This record gives sequence, structure tokens and C-alpha cells, in this order.
Amino acid sequence: LRLAVLASGRGSNLQAILDAIDAGTLDADVVGVWSDRSDAQALVRARDAGIPARAVRPRDFADRAAHDAALFDAIDAAAPDLIVCAGYMRLIGAAVLEMRAGQLVNIHPSLLPAFKGLHTHQRVLDAGVAEHGCSVHFVTAELDGGPVIAQARVPVLAGDDASTLAGRVLAREHPLLLETLRRIASGRVCWHEEG
Ligand code: GRF
Repeated sequence: LRLAVLASGRGSNLQAILDAIDAGTLDADVVGVWSDRSDAQALVRARDAGIPARAVRPRDFADRAAHDAALFDAIDAAAPDLIVCAGYMRLIGAAVLEMRAGQLVNIHPSLLPAFKGLHTHQRVLDAGVAEHGCSVHFVTAELDGGPVIAQARVPVLAGDDASTLAGRVLAREHPLLLETLRRIASGRVCWHEEG
């Protein structure tokens, strides 16, 4: 399975993919890593693994559509089977997504459809819910709204703050993402429209 990975920051989900490929527990290749930020640690992780890594910065383009076009032209040139958004913090335009149904997946730190968007851990604490978690879903034009493929649940514990909760969720994100990629690689996941 040829993977293109999009990441904006730390890149721990990318690292989990790289480590699994190295360990022989994920039958995939990362054909390239792209970021909207030239200072993303994810780019360093890719380069350390000998993988092409490139920042495609929004500021270098006239508008969102031009940035999306440049980014996805570069990604298409690498001919991935699947594009993995792993902490990619920019909205991708509908024009790009509508022609790529089933080609992009995202890992999101909540039990979708609950808590779409940002700052999910603090919002979960503020809401006083007892359970939290993470979701891998197909990316569609609706932010964090695409069909959910897999989820992992964690308890919200007394004394949790956003940081402790984020750490507990992140620890489940990595295996969830890897397991989902294995399922996709083996053809056990297919694109489906909800509703
Ligand atoms: C993860 O919590 C992911 O769910 C969210 O952003 C974070 C990315 O972390 N979208 P990393 O860059 O993979 O470490």
C-alpha cells in the first residue's frame, strides 16, 4: 500500500507508521510526506527515514484553491494508493475532495460524530462526559464529517486535564491508525456513503 502522509506538526502518528513498516508489521510504503509548515517535526522524521518530505506553504500561494492544487499535484505525482492526514491542520477544499472519495483518511481525537473540530480534549472535559477516544474516518468536504472507519475509546478520569487526556487518547491513536491501515491494505475496508 503506497501511502502519502500529510502532517502539520509533531508527527507521532507518522512515526508510528514508519516504525511499523520498519518492524514489518505494516505492509506499506510511505511515498512522501507533505506539510503546510516548513518547521513541522514530521518533515524531519520523514527525512531521517530517507523519505521525500516537502513543505507546501499556504503563504506561497494566492489562495486556498491554488495551495490545494499545488499540494495535490505534488502528491499525485508520487502515485499513492491512500493519503493519510495525520495531524494535518488545514481544511482541504471541496474541489479536491469531491474527486477523491475514499482516497483520504484522517485520524481525529474524538469519538466522532461527537466533538468535531479543534481542542477536543478540553471540550470533552468541559462537557463532563465519561468517555473519550479517537476515530479514523474518510475525509470528505465536511470537516471531520466523513464516514467513520474505526474508533478507540478511553475513559475520562477524575483529575484529568487536557494534557493527560490527550496523552491517553494519543496512545490509542497510533495502534488504531495502524490497524486501520492494515485493514485497508488487505481490502477489508471500502468507501461508503453514509445515510
Ligand atoms: C493527533 O492527536 C491527531 O488526532 C490530531 O492531531 C494530532 C497529531 O499528532 N489530528 P501527531 O502530529 O501525529 O503527533
